[in-house]
Amino acid sequence: MEKNTGHESVNTNRSVMQVLSSENCDIEILENGQTINNFIDNKIEERGSVDNEEAFYVANLDSMFERHLRWLTNLPRVKPFYAVKCNNTPAVIQMLSALGTGFDCASKGEIQMALSLGVTPDKIIYAHTTKPRSHIKYACAHGVDLMTFDSEDELLKISECHAKAKLVLRIAVDDSNSLVRLSSKFGARLDTVEKLLERAGELDLEVIGVSFHVGSGCTDSLTFKQAITDARHVFDIASLLGFQMRLLDIGGGFSAIGDFQMKFQEFSEVINGALDKFFPPDSGVQIIAEPGRYYVESAFTLAVNVIAKRVDIDHMAEHNNGEENSSDRMMYYINDGVYGSLNTIINDPVQTVVAPYLHKAVEGSEQRYRSVIWGPTCDSIDKITENYWIPELDVGDWLLIDNMGAYSVSVTTTFNGFENAQIYPVVTAETWHTLNLCHTYSIIH
Ligand SMILES: Cc1ncc(COP(=O)(O)O)c(C=O)c1O
Repeated sequence: MEKNTGHESVNTNRSVMQVLSSENCDIEILENGQTINNFIDNKIEERGSVDNEEAFYVANLDSMFERHLRWLTNLPRVKPFYAVKCNNTPAVIQMLSALGTGFDCASKGEIQMALSLGVTPDKIIYAHTTKPRSHIKYACAHGVDLMTFDSEDELLKISECHAKAKLVLRIAVDDSNSLVRLSSKFGARLDTVEKLLERAGELDLEVIGVSFHVGSGCTDSLTFKQAITDARHVFDIASLLGFQMRLLDIGGGFSAIGDFQMKFQEFSEVINGALDKFFPPDSGVQIIAEPGRYYVESAFTLAVNVIAKRVDIDHMAEHNNGEENSSDRMMYYINDGVYGSLNTIINDPVQTVVAPYLHKAVEGSEQRYRSVIWGPTCDSIDKITENYWIPELDVGDWLLIDNMGAYSVSVTTTFNGFENAQIYPVVTAETWHTLNLCHTYSIIH
């Protein structure tokens, strides 16, 4: 394994190294056939040798690269602007920057972070419709011109703070088939857009496009079709009012794990069909999207430590007159929970269930016990799983949890003084070399 210092591993091309090498970005390159699993084993062993049980993540950048290639294959006309809010780990931003994506930032802080990691302002969309004045001024001062709006008051603020902004009108869409519905909070209704656009004209503001977000955990591809149809309608109104419309932003809401694996393919086909019908390539309209979850969901694996254990005696007594039998319930306490990395269990309707598994090898025949896994804090909502059948664990054992990249590290707290899990970004040497070759021949942008 080799540290990415920017000198040792790749000499052929500097561009990817320049993007991925910085003080903030500590990527390990896995050499000599080392796998992510080997890396996790080593980290756990290392921690054991220094009596350190702190939870950690491994961020698998290969997974993000694969997702990007899949995006380019499935949605070739749609340029992704990664939603920084989903996971703001510097290595994630830098990897995506190296892959040539743009970025959706929701605040001054996110813009600041992207710029500090080498993202150029023309690759940022400030995709929040209710912005503090000071954040709009910051965007203006740093050359971030592209931003969304959905109300007259926002137009007034923008005309005061960034009169030269390039505006994207966010519309509300039918998101009734999504697990996280955003159109109840954001987006102009179709029957209000004409008035809004007229107001933008009066204020001498430049509106260049339309955006929407179908919500997270969208289960119906026709939602995208309808939203693209609605966007076409708004383009037509805006064109009649004299605006030079040239950008369509189809938002986020993409996933490719579990049940959504097939859906991504299906969604892509529906989106491509609707784009070709309503915004054909010769229309000159640039199509972008704001995927968050899609890029990072499967890239992060969380390793947690069993810090305490007890048998649920009350439960046994209540149901079995104190005799031990198969309904015994084990209680385990791990060092990360719903106030930390596992907050999705209570905050994110798309990921309310996680499936921890033992890091150490387990025989298939080993007896399993009904178990509850709790997080470390003093709060009883800090529960990870209930009625979970696993072999008996010992204090000090490690559990792994996959698919922990979305809305985990960016939402975490330090409630009760428990520290956030450290993040180790890794990339295999094969992917690292491929990335450099791709850059050399400009085939990933
Ligand atoms: C404006 C906007 N864009 C993009 C996203 C990313 O959505 P997802 O992670 O579902 O792709 C969100 C998520 O809330 C959002 O609010």
